[in-house]
Amino acid sequence: METFDSLTYEKEVYKPSKETVKNSYVDNYDRLYEYSIKENEKFWDEIAKQLNWFKHYDKVLDASDPPFYKWFTGGKTNIVYNALDRHVTTFRKNKLALIWEGEDGCERVYTYFSLYKEVNKFANVLKSFGVKKGDTVTIYLPNIPEIAISMLACAKIGAIHSVVYAGFSAFALRDRISDAQSKLLITADGAYRGGKVIELKKIADEALTRTPIVQTVIVVKRTGKDVAIDTSRDFYYDELMKLPIANAYLKTEEMDSEDPLFILYTSGTTGKPKGILHVHGGYSVGTYITSKYVFNINDNDTYWCAADPGWITGHSYIIYGPLINGATTVMVEGSPYYPYPDRWWKIVEKHGVNIFYTSPTAIRGIMRFGENWPNRHNLSSLKILGSVGEPINPEVWRWYHKHIGKERCPIMDTWWQTESGMFLITPVPSLPLKPGSCGKPFFGIDADIFDESGKSVEAGKGGYLVIKKPWPAMMRTIYKDEDRYKKTYFSKFNDVYLAGDAAKRDKDGYFYVMGRIDDVIKVSGYRLGTAEIESAIITHEAVAESAVIGKPHDIKGNSIKAFVVLKPNIEKSDTLMDDIRSNVGKTLGPIAKPDEIEFVDSLPKTRSGKIMRRVLKARDIGIDEGDISTIEED
Ligand code: WTA
Repeated sequence: METFDSLTYEKEVYKPSKETVKNSYVDNYDRLYEYSIKENEKFWDEIAKQLNWFKHYDKVLDASDPPFYKWFTGGKTNIVYNALDRHVTTFRKNKLALIWEGEDGCERVYTYFSLYKEVNKFANVLKSFGVKKGDTVTIYLPNIPEIAISMLACAKIGAIHSVVYAGFSAFALRDRISDAQSKLLITADGAYRGGKVIELKKIADEALTRTPIVQTVIVVKRTGKDVAIDTSRDFYYDELMKLPIANAYLKTEEMDSEDPLFILYTSGTTGKPKGILHVHGGYSVGTYITSKYVFNINDNDTYWCAADPGWITGHSYIIYGPLINGATTVMVEGSPYYPYPDRWWKIVEKHGVNIFYTSPTAIRGIMRFGENWPNRHNLSSLKILGSVGEPINPEVWRWYHKHIGKERCPIMDTWWQTESGMFLITPVPSLPLKPGSCGKPFFGIDADIFDESGKSVEAGKGGYLVIKKPWPAMMRTIYKDEDRYKKTYFSKFNDVYLAGDAAKRDKDGYFYVMGRIDDVIKVSGYRLGTAEIESAIITHEAVAESAVIGKPHDIKGNSIKAFVVLKPNIEKSDTLMDDIRSNVGKTLGPIAKPDEIEFVDSLPKTRSGKIMRRVLKARDIGIDEGDISTIEED
C-alpha cells in the first residue's frame, strides 16, 4: 500500500470537466480565495447576508478577546429560522427535505412543510416538560428522522442539544449527560445495525442509574420491542406527539448570534471528553456556505451524506448545512454491507442521488467485495462525491473515482473537525484534484503548516497544521472549560489554532493531512481517545493498568492495540482477553473494543509516571525507540 511519504502522486492531477466548471458556484478558486483572505470580514459579511436574520448584526467579527472570537454580534437569528422557516413560505414548501431509509427496508419522507410541523410539534412537547432557552437536552438516538426532529426542536426553542452517538455505551452516555447536566433525555427502544438490534433504552437506563439529574426520558419507538418503562419518568414520543400540547405551530425563538446551539463531545488527550460548543449565528453561516460551494448543491439535487448524525459530520452535513440550503437530504440507517454489499448503490439508484459523501473506511470496506457490486446499479445520477474523517489513500481515491464516480465525478476530500464545525481544507468542484490531497483551504480560511518554532515550513516538509484566522463556525469554547479550550488549541502557537494533525503541502499549495499528532486515534473514521479506552479497560476487575495505541490498518485506517498489566496473581488467558474486550464494548462502546490485547508485566513510563505510548508504538511496529523516548515530555 502506498504511504504518504511517497508523494509521487502529487503529479497526478485530475482536471474538472468544462461542464463541472460551468455549473459550479465557484469557477475560479484562486480569485475568490485571494479576495476572501484580503477582505476577510467583507467576504464573511457577504455570505452571512445571504441568510435571514431576525435582526441584522452590527459587527461581523469581534476579535477583542482572542481566542474567544465572536461573530455577527448584535444579530438575532436561529438556525431553524434558516433551515426550515424560511423555506416553507417559498416553492420549497412541498419539496422533499428528508428521505429516510431504514435498515429493515422501510422508508419515510418529509417535505419542508411536514418537517417544519413535526419540529414545531416536538418543540411544543419539549416546552411542556419545562425545557427552555439555555437548557441542555441529551439526545441518544440512532440514524432515524426523530434525531433530526429532536435537534431542530431543541434549536427552535433555544435549548442546547447534546447528541451522543448511539454506538456509545452506558459509561460514555453517563459521562456526557453529567457534564451537560441535561434534565431531559431523548432515546429509542432500540436501533438496527447489520441485522442486529442494539437495545438503546436498556443502555440508557443503565446510564441513568448513575445520573439522577435526568427527570424525563422520551422514548422513540423504532424496533417496537417491549422495553422497561418507568412511568414516573419515561414517555413514548408517539404518544406525546398525539396530545393537544403538540401543536403544529410555534414561533421560533429569537437567539443572539452567539447563543449556544449545541454541545458535541469529542475525544482529546485526556480521558474526559471535551464538550465542543457551537453557536447559532456563525455555525449557520459556515455550514451553509461550505455545503453550497463544495457540494454545489442545487434545488434539483438529492444529496446523501452517509455519516451518523451522532458525529459532527451528521450535524453539519446531513442536517444543518443541507437544510439551510433547502436541499433534499437523504438519511440511511444501518450498515453499508447489510444485507448485501451493494446496499448503498441500490439506494443511490433508487433515489437518484446526485451528491454522495462518505468516509475512506466505508469505501475501503466496500472495495473488498469488488466492483461487481456497484456495477450492478445505475449510478449515472451521481455528480459529486465526497470523503471525510481520515486521509484517503490514493489507491482508494482512484477506485472511488473510477467505480463509483465513473471518472466523471470530482471527489471532495474535506478536511475538518468537530471543533471547526465546517470544512476548512477542501477542494471545490472546479479545482483540479490530486488523489490523497484534501485540496486547498476553503475561502476565508488561512491555513498553514508550522514547524516546532511556529515558522511556516517549505513545500514538501511535514509540520503542525494550523489556522491563522478565526472563522464563523469555529467552536466557541469547551463547555464549562475555557482554560482547556485555550490551552489545547491556542497555547502552542500563541493565538493560532492548532488542529492536532500533521500535514504537508506540495509546491502547488495542495495539503496532505498525515494524521493526528496527539493521543487521538481515528478508528474507522471514528474519533477516540487512547485515555478514554484505557479508562474503560481498567474498569475490568482483573486489570491493574493499561496503555492503548493505534496501529495502521488496511480497512479501518487504525486499529486499537491495548497493553494490559494484570493485578497480582491473576492468570493470563484467552478467555480473560475476550472478557476485557467485551467489557470495553459494554462500558464505552463496540467501536472502542481493542483489536489486539497484549499482556505485559509493566508499562514504560516517564519519571513523573506518564505512560510513554510512543515507546510502545515504536516497539510494536519495530522501529528504533531511542529517539522517541526523548520526545516524550516529562
Ligand atoms: C481527521 C470529523 C484527513 C483529522 C469531520 C481531524 C481527516 C479529525 C479528514 C477530526 C480528511 C477529518 N483527511 N484527515 N479529509 N477529515 N480528518 O472531530 O485527523 O471526528 O483532526 O471530525 O479527523 O475528527 P472529527
